[in-house]
Amino acid sequence: MLITFCHLLDLSSLSSPVITMSANSRTWSALTIAGITVAGGVLAYAVYFDYKRRNDTEFRKKLRKEKKRVQKAAAAAKPSLNITTEELRAAIAKIRSEEIPDIGPEREAYFMQNVGIGEQLCAQGLASALPAAMSFFRALRVYPSPVELIMIYQKTVPDEIFKLIVEMTNLDAQALASGYYNFFPAKSFNVSVQDQGNKKILVAEKDFDAGDVIYTEEPVVAALDPDLQEAGTNCTHCFRLIHQADAVSSDNDPLHAVYCSAECQAKSKLQSHHCLFLPEPLLPPELDQGQSLNTEARSKGQQAFADYLKETKKTHPMLVARFAARQIATEIGKLTEQVTKQDTSSILDLPNYVEKGGPEYALGDHFERLRYVDAPVPEEETKVIQGVFSNSLPGLDQFLTDERHGIMLSKVAYNAIGVTFSGGRDNRPVFQERPEDQERTRTPYGTNRQVGSGVYIVSAYLGHSCDPSTKPAFKNGTTTLHLVATRPIKKGDELTMSYVDVTQHENETPEEARRRRRFELARGWRFKCECAKCTTEGASAPEGAVEEDLGVEKDESRLEASVERFSSGQVPEQTSASPSAPESETD
Ligand SMILES: *[C@@H]1O[C@H](CO)[C@@H](O)[C@H](O)[C@H]1NC(C)=O
Ligand SMILES: *[C@@H]1O[C@H](CO)[C@@H](O)[C@H](O)[C@H]1NC(C)=O
Ligand SMILES: *[C@@H]1O[C@H](CO)[C@@H](O)[C@H](O)[C@H]1NC(C)=O
Ligand SMILES: *[C@@H]1O[C@H](CO)[C@@H](O)[C@H](O)[C@H]1NC(C)=O
Ligand SMILES: [Zn+2]
Ligand SMILES: [Zn+2]
Repeated sequence: MLITFCHLLDLSSLSSPVITMSANSRTWSALTIAGITVAGGVLAYAVYFDYKRRNDTEFRKKLRKEKKRVQKAAAAAKPSLNITTEELRAAIAKIRSEEIPDIGPEREAYFMQNVGIGEQLCAQGLASALPAAMSFFRALRVYPSPVELIMIYQKTVPDEIFKLIVEMTNLDAQALASGYYNFFPAKSFNVSVQDQGNKKILVAEKDFDAGDVIYTEEPVVAALDPDLQEAGTNCTHCFRLIHQADAVSSDNDPLHAVYCSAECQAKSKLQSHHCLFLPEPLLPPELDQGQSLNTEARSKGQQAFADYLKETKKTHPMLVARFAARQIATEIGKLTEQVTKQDTSSILDLPNYVEKGGPEYALGDHFERLRYVDAPVPEEETKVIQGVFSNSLPGLDQFLTDERHGIMLSKVAYNAIGVTFSGGRDNRPVFQERPEDQERTRTPYGTNRQVGSGVYIVSAYLGHSCDPSTKPAFKNGTTTLHLVATRPIKKGDELTMSYVDVTQHENETPEEARRRRRFELARGWRFKCECAKCTTEGASAPEGAVEEDLGVEKDESRLEASVERFSSGQVPEQTSASPSAPESETD
C-alpha cells in the first residue's frame, strides 16, 4: 500500500521541493511546506521546498480538484458508525496529550509506523475503525502537508474510516482556532485575555504592588528609528547602545545594519535580515539545488526597499517586512533543521506565547487576532515590499498580496509600541510636517521621544487609559518590554497603559491637556476615550463648555473577518479538511 501512496501523488511532479501558502486560511498558517521522496521504492518522509507546484498550473488544478472531491466524498459518506462527536473529541484529546518525536528520522519513523498500524487496523474491519482513524490522524499530525495526505487517505482508506479522519481534523482545527485564548498567553506571563463587551482586554492573574514587573516580553519584530539606523549608534536588533569596539556589520548590506554583538547579528539575520537585505540564497544548499532566483534582481529589490526606508524615514514598512520575513524564516528554520539536523531554535528565538506542550500556533495565528483600523497604504510601498519577497524565493510573490499587505500595515500602525529608554530622548527629528502624516506608536512618553518601535503580541491586548494601571519600561536598555504596575493591582483587574502622552504640559491648562490627548487618540486609534479619568473630567466640565468634536463616535477598530467568526462564538463552516488547508489556491 505504501507504493500506492507514491503513485497517487504523481511524484514526477514532486521531484523538486514544494511550498504552499495559505495567506487567508482560517488558522492562518502562513506557509505549509511539503514534499515526499521515493527512496528505493519506499515512501520516505522528508520536507522540502518546491516551487514547481506554485508555477505548474496543471498540478495546482489537479490539487484543487482533488480537494473538492475529498470534501464532497466526506460530506456524502454516511455516518454508519456509532461514534459520537464526544468520542472523537476524546480521541483527539488523547492524541494531543501524546508526545510526538522531534524533527528528524524519529518523526519519519513515527509517521511510517502510524500509517502502518492504521492499515493493519483497517484490515480488521469496522470494529477497529476508531483506532484506525486515530493512527491515521497521528500520522497526519506530523506530516508537513496535511491537505495532500488527506487526499491520499481518501483514495486508500475505507470510506467510513476516511470520514472519521476528516471529522477529527475538522474538530481539531475548530478547537485550535476557537480555543486560542485558553492557551494564549502562557501562564508565565501572569496575565490572561478576557472578553469585555466585544473587545479583548488583558487582566492580571495575581496581585501586584506599584513598581512590580508584571511580565517581560520580547518584540516579535522591532525597527529602529531611521535616524538612529543611519547613524549606526544603536544595535539594529536589540537597540542597545553600541560600543564601537564591539560593533559588527556586514559589507553587502544595503541597510548598513550595525549590531552590538555577533549574537544579535546572527539572530537578526536568521529572523528577517537575511530575507530582506542579504544576497545569499534563503535555502541551505541541500535544499536550494540551484533553484534560487536571479541574485541580481534580488539585490535590486532589497536596495529599492532600503532606499525607500531611507527616503520616507518610516518604520512601519520595516515592521511589516520583518514580520513577513520572520514567518518565512521560521518555516525555513524548521526545514533546515530537518535537513541539516542543526538546532536553530535558539537563534530563531520564538517567544513562548503558548504554554510548552500546548498546541502549536504559527506567528501568523497570533498576528491574525490583533485588532486594527484601516490605515492608508501607499501603493508604492506595497510594490517595493513585494519586490523584496518575490525575488527572494519562487512562490513568495503569492505571500504578500496587496490586500494582505494593507492589513499587515494597518495592524502594525495600530499595535506597535514605542521603545523609549528612561523617559525617552529629546533629539528625535520630526520626520513629517503634518501631524496626520506622522507615524504613531503606543507610548506614554510620546512617539517623538522613542528610539524605535516594536510589535509585542501579548502587550497588544493592553487597552488605553488616561490613568493607566501599568506602563511599559525598557529597563535593560534593549527592546525587552517590562510591564510595570503604576499602582497596586488585584488579581482580576484590567491592565491598561497610555497610548499617548497623557501628562499635562507646562504651557497647558488641564482642559487643553485633555483635549490634546483625546485628539491624539482619535487620530491614531480611532476611538473616543471613555476611560474613568475622561468621564470624570467630562462630567465636571464648567457650565456651558462644549464637548470637542473628535471626529469619531465609536471605537472603529476591528478584527479580520476570519477571526470575528470565532470570537462571536459562531461555529465555523466546515469547508476545510485540515487545520492548515489552503482555503484558496491562488493562481
Ligand atoms: C448504532 O446504534 C443504534 C441505536 O443506537 C443501533 O440500533 C445500531 O445497531 C448501532 N449500530 C452499530 C453498527 O453498532
Ligand atoms: C510572572 O511573575 C513572576 C513572579 O511573580 C516572575 O518570576 C515571572 O518572571 C513573571 N513572568 C514573566 C513572563 O515575566
Ligand atoms: C541609542 O543611541 C543614542 C544616541 O543616538 C544613545 O543616546 C542611546 O543611549 C542609545 N541606546 C539606547 C538604548 O537608546
Ligand atoms: C536585564 O538585565 C538584568 C541585569 O542587568 C539581567 O539580570 C536580566 O537577565 C536582563 N533581562 C533580560 C530580559 O535581558
Ligand atoms: Zn544587540
Ligand atoms: Zn481617557
